Amino acid sequence: STILVLHGPNLNTLGTREPEVYGHETLEDIDNRLRQTASEQGHHLLHLQSNAEYELIDRIHEARTEGVDYIIINPAAFTHTSVALRDALLASGIPFIEVHLSNVHAREAFRHHSYFSDIATGVICGLGSHGYDLALQAALKRLH
Ligand code: DQA
Repeated sequence: STILVLHGPNLNTLGTREPEVYGHETLEDIDNRLRQTASEQGHHLLHLQSNAEYELIDRIHEARTEGVDYIIINPAAFTHTSVALRDALLASGIPFIEVHLSNVHAREAFRHHSYFSDIATGVICGLGSHGYDLALQAALKRLH
């Protein structure tokens, strides 16, 4: 199977960005670990980080024609703003898991609403980068 991992805006700064909130690992560390886990189990993992909404949308459109089986997405700040990204996921018909490093519910009120949670297979937040590993495990299990 093919899994696509999408990371939204500012996640390219992981490692140095508010480490007390987001941890010390870089996005590359996380992506490498996920790619390794997937390949050990005979799957293919693709990933993209973008600060641009349209790039994430275009990637989701491509995923549909490419035959991506599952998406793991941390929409970052777009979580709380993007109807367009939500619509792209709905249009793709590809099941997805929403991940957040921080516990968004323990933070500012504007982070409590997500445009994705009600259409996601599941939502993981507050577990740091381990949330991505758990999401991958869940996606692979569902694909078996
Ligand atoms: C985040 C939480 C969002 O509220 C925030 O805008 C982010 C990261 C997280 O992973 O905890 O950029 O999605």
